[in-house]
Parts: sequence; C-alpha cells; structure tokens
Amino acid sequence: MIECRGAAPRPGAPVQPGETRIVRTKLRWLFAFAGAALLLGACGLSDPSQSTLDGVAGPVAQKQKDLFLGVFWVAVAVFVLVEGGILLIMIRYRHRKGQDRMPAQTHGNTRLEVGWTILPTLVLAGVMVPTVGLLWDLARDPGPDALRVTVEGHQWWWSFVYTGEDMRVDYGDGGPITVADVMVIPEDTDVWLTLQSVGGGAKDADGVTDFKVIHSFWIPELGGKQDVVPNRTNHLLLHGSEPGTYEGNCAEFCGLQHGRMRARVVVLTADEWAAWVEHQKQPAAQPTGAAARGLGIFMNGPAEGVQACVSCHSIGGIADGPPNIAPNLTHFADPTHECFTGCTWEADDLDALRAWLRDPDAARLGSKMPDYGLTEEQIDDLVALLTILE
Ligand code: CUA
Repeated sequence: MIECRGAAPRPGAPVQPGETRIVRTKLRWLFAFAGAALLLGACGLSDPSQSTLDGVAGPVAQKQKDLFLGVFWVAVAVFVLVEGGILLIMIRYRHRKGQDRMPAQTHGNTRLEVGWTILPTLVLAGVMVPTVGLLWDLARDPGPDALRVTVEGHQWWWSFVYTGEDMRVDYGDGGPITVADVMVIPEDTDVWLTLQSVGGGAKDADGVTDFKVIHSFWIPELGGKQDVVPNRTNHLLLHGSEPGTYEGNCAEFCGLQHGRMRARVVVLTADEWAAWVEHQKQPAAQPTGAAARGLGIFMNGPAEGVQACVSCHSIGGIADGPPNIAPNLTHFADPTHECFTGCTWEADDLDALRAWLRDPDAARLGSKMPDYGLTEEQIDDLVALLTILE
C-alpha cells in the first residue's frame, strides 16, 4: 500500500525519486506473503476426509456447500473485476519517462464515491438473501420424525445421549442409550442435536476438574459446525444419506487435548440401525474368568483405599456408575464403537488401551482419568473385561 503522508500531492507536483523504490519493495513483500499463503494453504491430510467440499454425504452438507460455492463465485467475479481494474489502471497510467508532473487527482469525486458505496451494498444484499434463508432453514427443529441426540462436550471427549422416548434401555431405571466417541445414526434421517458443554464431574489425580469450556462440534461431510458453550444450549441439524463412517473433531480450542478431541459418526442402514438400537437397550455382557476379575477391579478399585473405575464410568446392568461423568462403557466392544478416548486410538489398538490404563497422563497429557497405579495383571484383567463388552 502506498501511504499518503500529509496532504495529497498537488496536481502537477514533481514525482519524488524515492517513491518508486518503496512501491517495489512493498510489492515484493506482497508477492512473498501471497506465495507463502498459497503454499501453506496446500498443507493438510486428505485421509480421513474432513472436507466440506469433498465427500459430502447428506442434504444439510450439500446445501451448505452449494451456498458456499455460490458466494465463492460472486466473490471471484468481484475479485477479477476489482483487481483487473487496478492492474489495467496501473499499466495504462503508469509513470513514463519524461513525465515529471503528478496527474490530476480524483479525490472528492462525489459520483464515484456514491457509486462504489452502493454497488458493494447491492452485491452483499444479494448474497445475504440465500445465506439468511439457509440459516433459518437449518435452524428449525425438523419435528417429531427426527432422531434426537444430546451431544455433550467434555475435556476431551464427546458423549451422545439418545433422548427419544423409544431410546431407553431395558434394564436398571431405564435411562437413555448413551455412548461415547462414536455417534451412530440411521441413514436418511434428520438428526437434531442438542449441544451442551459438560464438566466438573471427573477429576484427575491432582484434583484438576473436567472444566466446562467452549467446544465446537463438527462432522464436515454431514453438516456444518456449531459451538458448544457452557450454560447455553445450541442445536445442530445433521443428515447422512449414505451408510458409512464420517470423521469430525472439536473445532474450538478447549485445552491441552483439544487437537485429539475427535468424534466419529457411523451411519447405518435402517435394518442395521434397528438391530443396533435393540442391542444398545440390552445390559452389558456377563464377564467370566479374567474379565470377571476385571469387573472386580472396576467395582472395588485396584487396592485398598483407592477409588474405583465405577465412581466415574458405567457398565450398564453390571456396574452402574453415575450417568455421564466419564465415557459409558456398556457396549465398549460393539463394532460401531470404532475408537476410544476422544477417538485418539482405534478400538483394536489394545497396546494403546493398555498404555492408557497404565498411565493416562503419559498417554494423553492433562487427562482427567487418574493414574491408580494398576499392576500389569490388573491391566490385563481390565482389558479382558472391556473387550467382551460387545
Ligand atoms: Cu473440545 Cu476443542
């Protein structure tokens, strides 16, 4: 940018010799920045996909993509016109040898000023109509046919509570089906999410609590992102048209493990969904052998005077803990529960599961799961328990 110091030069005033050099230096910086931005913008992993433009798998994400592309092409047209005009004027009216007088200045041209105020206003107003229309469209509760799920953001994992009347479990006091890390939904169904930030229940060994902080829930291929704000209830509409697995993550910095607060959505066919719901309503499998020893540790703690896993976690029907302070483990080994601990690790990575139980803070800095000093035998028994919880 060329700075104007003091008053604008008078028409006919001589060009200062230093000005051309300053412009050249600034242009060089500008090109360097633009180049770096393009280069760094290309960084990223395409697998697993978390693109809002690629692999869109439902009408919500599709409408958002269409709107984005519409606004994008309007912006491209504006960019080409404005930048093209600048280039044209720069070249056509550039300084030429032997021309040592300032050209006439157009500052204060009322017609131009009014024109370039009104024109952008009209463009923005035009873009606003479909934008606000879609915002309103997607902010509406889709009605009784929608699946209703409350998404709870913890430090640092997601919990999914199915709040529909027909989504209550068949044991205990008949609470809602509750899962962690992976949300399972049926295909071709509107899913109306209620988003809440939860915290304060779990504490690590140093007494540091699971704070209520701002998270943001985002599954790019199924729909837009929405902030999850303490003491406020937000909503988000998702819709998956094709069965499959969709990746997502927390999109708002929420503490040490924000980068590993992932989520996954598994979209099932209607039949698979019905079977999944029926299975989730059942209590956990009855453990025997090593798994039964694991249940003993889970219920009574690894040693005298040490808290037990059940003070935060719940295994429905066989070890009922508080409802949702830590991930519900009732069907931990169900095939749809593909990953655990904020989807930091895949479900079949038993070495990671052992390392996590051995020293939670080392596996995941700042973790709210305390280190209870489990022995290797106790870890084996707990892993045996977790892996039979289908
Ligand atoms: Cu939760 Cu970032």
